Amino acid sequence: MAGSDDKRVVIVTGSTSGIGRGVAELLLSRGWRVVVNSLSDDETGESMAASSDDMIYARGDISSAQDCAQVVAAAVATWGRIDGLVNNAGTTAYVDLDDIGGVTAEVWHRVLDVNVIGTWQMISAAMPHLKVAAPGRIVNIASVAGLRPVGSSVPYSVSKVAIVHMTSILGKVLGPDVLVNAVAPGLVETAWTEEWGAVKDDVAATAPLRRIGHPEDIAAACDYLLNTTYTTGECIAVDGGMRLVI
Ligand SMILES: NC(=O)c1ccc[n+]([C@@H]2O[C@H](COP(=O)([O-])OP(=O)(O)OC[C@H]3O[C@@H](n4cnc5c(N)ncnc54)[C@H](OP(=O)(O)O)[C@@H]3O)[C@@H](O)[C@H]2O)c1
Repeated sequence: MAGSDDKRVVIVTGSTSGIGRGVAELLLSRGWRVVVNSLSDDETGESMAASSDDMIYARGDISSAQDCAQVVAAAVATWGRIDGLVNNAGTTAYVDLDDIGGVTAEVWHRVLDVNVIGTWQMISAAMPHLKVAAPGRIVNIASVAGLRPVGSSVPYSVSKVAIVHMTSILGKVLGPDVLVNAVAPGLVETAWTEEWGAVKDDVAATAPLRRIGHPEDIAAACDYLLNTTYTTGECIAVDGGMRLVI
């Protein structure tokens, strides 16, 4: 087994792009061994893994329980342990909040399958190893859309509310072996928001901190929560204060 020393191991789902990539790169620089994951971007995942002995890439769709088990198995086969899990992978649908007919059951299932059930499946697959880490730490990526009635669609916002509540419940029941927290980003510059020019201008003009977020802002919060010793079940907004004005 490669690198069987006391370096901690973290899985970051959806980490070939945007926030997840920022988290993976910061944690690598902080001395973690990192499992990079994505749905399909093997090229970026393999190239990130090739850049360090402390990074591997495990492709997998978190909405598949089998894929989640394989991502966890890749971490354990390579390094024999899992100390942290950052549930970042997510998806959305773009449907105006008042367009009730525009949200079909198919849209609900697609968004909830990835954002809620996928997060749950990763937690479930990693839990036996996180418990051994004592404490293991989980950080779920929620959204300001899970704290306020805003967002790209009702299913997306509801999925993020579910993540915030899942975090509270698991924080309540999994201690002291596993600490469970969440980060709720505001608008962050990623591929996902690439074409949201007007929204970005609006956030930069109205957020108390007068700018949009960057993956590094979210990564810093994840780094904190992966080291916290006395916080669990908490959701930290990292949004430049935007939730205060929307
Ligand atoms: N950007 C924002 O303003 C913002 C704000 C609040 C919350 N968030 C949350 O932050 C997270 C990341 O967003 P982002 O903006 O960084 O997105 P992004 O740049 O589009 O990156 C998404 C990443 O997730 C992966 N992914 C998507 N579906 C997956 C699945 N089913 N299984 C495994 N991996 C999957 C993608 O892989 P492929 O490239 O292979 O598809 C990619 O690596 C999401 O949970 C999102 O809801 C984002």
